[in-house]
Amino acid sequence: QPHTPEIEQPTTSIDDSFHKQPFIIGVAGGAASGKTTVCDLIIEQLRDQRVVLVNQDSFYHTLTPEELTKVHEYNFDHPDAFDTEKLLRVVEKLKQGQAVDIPKYDFKSYKNDVFPLRRVNPSDVIILEGILIFHDPRVRGLMNMKIFVDTDADVRLARRIRRDTAEKGRDIGMVLDQYSKFVKAAFDDFILPTKKYADVIIPRGGDNHVAIDLIVQHIRTKLGQHDLCKIYPNLYVIQSTFQI
Ligand code: CTP
Repeated sequence: QPHTPEIEQPTTSIDDSFHKQPFIIGVAGGAASGKTTVCDLIIEQLRDQRVVLVNQDSFYHTLTPEELTKVHEYNFDHPDAFDTEKLLRVVEKLKQGQAVDIPKYDFKSYKNDVFPLRRVNPSDVIILEGILIFHDPRVRGLMNMKIFVDTDADVRLARRIRRDTAEKGRDIGMVLDQYSKFVKAAFDDFILPTKKYADVIIPRGGDNHVAIDLIVQHIRTKLGQHDLCKIYPNLYVIQSTFQI
């Protein structure tokens, strides 16, 4: 009879259930409003925690050959430009404590699923960032905290010109055309109406360090509550004793 090693059966503990329920933060706001900076500052302050950033940009649809020939007529600021079903599947898996592969999007070739995919492990905090991340009620429903980065339109346009010419290799005429044809209208029609879902609105984006400190404090409080239950899984007994 071969010796069968004793395998300790994992039991469902409070600890496991917390790993399956990370704290999910949504960060929305107009294009070039400073969402990335806000996320980076939150991640930097939470460096002792496991934090993962998921960008809505990673879920842009790949353009068909026909759409590619008329790329200047394609609206990248419309909710239909994103594969929201895929985003939902990915976030639901992460929420359940599973590792996921996130697609990579190439702004120059307009292609998604550029290999290698980005492997993301389950984390304590998941940040979902994107212009229309509050648009779909199912995605919104997964969030524990919603932040809207509120930056003036002129600042957003100036940043966009600088960024798209430097990083995306576009000329200024193209950037301004796209802005007046699609970006401005999509902000008014789709992005701004989602501001009402926000728990916190940050004026001036990444420059607003007070707002970011307050947000990080709140996240820490929420994570601290988890940690306390991990250290003292029978905390509810202590609490009930004191309730007498
Ligand atoms: N976009 C584009 N070309 C593509 C795909 C997207 O120009 N092939 C543009 C869309 O028009 C949209 C913008 O990318 O306006 C969305 O990205 P944005 O929110 O600007 O990027 P972040 O860096 O995440 O934003 P922030 O500056 O707020 O950090």
